[in-house]
Amino acid sequence: MLATLFKGNARFGDGGDHDWQPPLGSDEAARFVADPGTVCVAAIDMATNHIAGFVYGGVLSRRHTRLHHLCLCEVGLDVDHRQSGVGRLLMDAFAGEARKMGIDRGFVVTNEANTVAIALYEEMGAMRGDGRDVLFGLSF
Ligand SMILES: CC(C)(COP(=O)(O)OP(=O)(O)OC[C@H]1O[C@@H](n2cnc3c(N)ncnc32)[C@H](O)[C@@H]1OP(=O)(O)O)[C@@H](O)C(=O)NCCC(=O)NCCS
Repeated sequence: MLATLFKGNARFGDGGDHDWQPPLGSDEAARFVADPGTVCVAAIDMATNHIAGFVYGGVLSRRHTRLHHLCLCEVGLDVDHRQSGVGRLLMDAFAGEARKMGIDRGFVVTNEANTVAIALYEEMGAMRGDGRDVLFGLSF
């Protein structure tokens, strides 16, 4: 599935002009799949057996209030499967996986310009931050 997503990456993205990112190697892809702290749900179009969309994220341990949070890293629908309710289904499935793990909190970061993603998150009751947070990428 990861290989399929990589090959068809442009079909699942937001259309932005992002830098190309190399896929994981096969060993790391296997570790991604085996990691109990990774949640990845795919929606399959039963008529074509193709991936209609996916969502993935990871468990984060935090020191306040609740030990575990589920961080949503990415949700993406194939361009031919958007606006048909699949995004909401994936978000519901992601929430269901969180609850199964006993996790009731999480977060997702998106761009202010991505009004579709914002509408999706707000529709499922997500609370917007106060707008003053700044995201930094760190290199180690
Ligand atoms: C964001 C994304 C996952 C939404 O998926 P989707 O399948 O189109 O969403 P759904 O059909 O389930 O719609 C759920 C809600 O999202 C919002 N939404 C979806 N498409 C929208 C659009 N074109 N304009 C405005 N709101 C929209 C609506 O609130 C919608 O609820 P409604 O149908 O009751 O109005 C999809 O557009 C996508 O893959 N975008 C590219 C990748 C991306 O930007 N991911 C998010 C950042 S990581």
